[in-house]
Amino acid sequence: MSSPTLLNLDAAHFNNSGADKTFIARAAEVLRGGKLVAFPTETVYGLGGDATNEQAVAAIFAAKGRPTFNPLIIHMADFSELSAYVDISPLAENLAAHFMPGALTLILPRKKDAALSWLVSAGMDTLAVRIPSHAVARALLREVNVPIAAPSANRSGSVSATTPLHVLESLGDKVDLILGAGRSPIGIESTILDITAATPVILRQGGVTQSEIEAVIGKVDVFTGHSDTPTSPGQLQSHYAPNARVRLNATHAEEGEALLAFGPEMGIKSSKIRLNLSERGDLHEAAANLFAMLRELDKPEIKTIAVMSLPEIGLGLAMNDRLRRAAAPR
Ligand code: TXA
Ligand code: MG
Repeated sequence: MSSPTLLNLDAAHFNNSGADKTFIARAAEVLRGGKLVAFPTETVYGLGGDATNEQAVAAIFAAKGRPTFNPLIIHMADFSELSAYVDISPLAENLAAHFMPGALTLILPRKKDAALSWLVSAGMDTLAVRIPSHAVARALLREVNVPIAAPSANRSGSVSATTPLHVLESLGDKVDLILGAGRSPIGIESTILDITAATPVILRQGGVTQSEIEAVIGKVDVFTGHSDTPTSPGQLQSHYAPNARVRLNATHAEEGEALLAFGPEMGIKSSKIRLNLSERGDLHEAAANLFAMLRELDKPEIKTIAVMSLPEIGLGLAMNDRLRRAAAPR
């Protein structure tokens, strides 16, 4: 990949006409093509990809060099659009009325039929949603008109990017286009509030303060096991593991087992129920298929899903991490 295109806007005078409009249209086009665009939000810069496209979401994890599949936040322009993807409760509506658009991310139950990648929520039944208030982010989200998955636009383990230069330094040619608009005004990530349980829990402190939230909805819990360092799904309270057992490093499938293959299946004892993550052994394609295929094989009549080994390189690291968690004793 060559170096990314950098399109710089003037946030103070942004009005989404003329050159502004051209830049937004171009960034939206890149996103629609399944490629990655770093864009400004009021908290930090996001590394955006089309959340309905498994390949684009896999590309986000590859670009960040994340060793685990940490679930991602989906970004949309308007709260009203969220109901296609998550269940909206009166509590969510109340919070949205006060803090959306803005630096609050809500964890809500993911709709069963949500037309979204499974990788985006790391296979879980909950989804993180955010409506950024930054004018450039909103213009882009409106124009592209699909939910955009966006972690902070930095390599895994390094600090979040609050300027286009940070993005360039951290991600270099891993991003296709950088939409710049100066410094992110808040400069720290959004507050993550999980409202899927009886008592709301702050999973990450951020741009909206705990006392601001409590002034609206009363006392909340704070999950102290979660710092600003991304938590992997296995450490989260609710995470998806298949009902079936998972057997790793399989070289064949027993009777009653489903096979989740990787690479050519020559010489592998056949199982009636089998899927292949990537016949050509492509880790990127495999990552894009992983959660969807695990779900598909997780049928009542299947006791065990036998998974062939995946190399411990690139996206294979994150896939193996996730599979080891799924295979761990319950
Ligand atoms: O301000 C922000 O939130 C920025 C901008 C770009 O919007 N984004 C951001 O994303 O900080 P990221 O991926 O760096 O952090 C998202 C955090 C992760 O730590 C992840 O564990 C948590 O959100 N998360 C996402 N989905 C979740 C879910 N379904 N349940 C619990 N936590 C979730
Ligand atoms: Mg981050």
